[in-house]
Amino acid sequence: MKKLIANNFAFAAKQYQYLEKATPVDSMPKTFKDNRNVNSDVYWWCSGFYPGTLLYIYEYTKKPLILDEAKKRLAILDTVKYFTKNHDLGFMMFCSFGNAYRLTKNEEYKKVILESSKSLATRYRPDAKVIQSWEITDGGLRQKGFVGPVIIDNMMNIEMLEWASQNSTDKSFADIARNHANSTIKNHFRPDYSSYHVLDYDLTTGEVRKKVTAQGFSDSSAWSRGQGWALYGYTMMYRFTKDPAYLKQAQGIAKFILNHPNLPADKVPYWDFDATEIPNALRDVSAASVYASALLELGQYTSGEEKQNYVDVAKTILKSLSGSKYRAQLGTNGGFLLMHSVGSIPHKSEIDVPLTYADYYFLEALLRYKKWYL
Ligand code: GLY
Repeated sequence: MKKLIANNFAFAAKQYQYLEKATPVDSMPKTFKDNRNVNSDVYWWCSGFYPGTLLYIYEYTKKPLILDEAKKRLAILDTVKYFTKNHDLGFMMFCSFGNAYRLTKNEEYKKVILESSKSLATRYRPDAKVIQSWEITDGGLRQKGFVGPVIIDNMMNIEMLEWASQNSTDKSFADIARNHANSTIKNHFRPDYSSYHVLDYDLTTGEVRKKVTAQGFSDSSAWSRGQGWALYGYTMMYRFTKDPAYLKQAQGIAKFILNHPNLPADKVPYWDFDATEIPNALRDVSAASVYASALLELGQYTSGEEKQNYVDVAKTILKSLSGSKYRAQLGTNGGFLLMHSVGSIPHKSEIDVPLTYADYYFLEALLRYKKWYL
């Protein structure tokens, strides 16, 4: 594993130079499709992953030019700290500025995280005890009768709120995160610990009006990346709170994923556990990266055979993703590390392409393995 980790970071340091060249200075990389790099503005939900990934490469390689490139991208991302139109602030601002502060201790970065947390907290709906994910004007949700959509992905955004409470005098951020996590345990899961994708809450009574999917195969299916957000989210909540309910939730989700008959031997999941085209369904490498990183953390809070199983599966994923089936050749794939992720099949968007967050959680998992298990 030591060699595999070293090899991946040496590759990443070179490969991301191609990505840098392909990404104009005022934008962020999004994907590579039909032989062309596709970029986004800083308000796309993934805008924090490119600087975050650069910071992981810098953490391992200590190459100053990589830190310089990360700082340039953080400078254009800064303005997003005031954004309040969706719940993605945690992804955008904590994967980027959170890592930047951790590695540089620059107080300006901490201020950005705290301001971003204030913006995210404006989306908290106290009567329903949830953070509202999307505006109902987005994607015609109003026409479909939604009033308070909350998606399982939102478990990832509350990491920033926990951190903000821990690193400031404002404890309300943690109250919001915990209320959101508790409402999500109560409402978002099925008895087998698989999760729905989208819930619609009555924002006055907290009653759940709908349980549906946006990016999964069907309303009742287990969308693979969503299961990953849930696993990572509750493991992370246990890190901050040591509340056994969160650990139990993470263990239940892990059991669902790891024991699922449709999880392939290389542990890179199909895009949805219930996709009817399995075994010919597309894989989602981004979900695999998220699983690997989350399982390595869950291994820190468990012991014996259970811990070993989490670490073994994470190791299998990391080995799979490091092989030629999933990892690109140098100078190809638009400069992204990994191939074969799936954004949203129902929206016919980002299908079987590289995605920034697949690279981000892959490198995060490799660093976690180095820190905890080498
Ligand atoms: N948060 C959106 C996604 O996972 O695709």
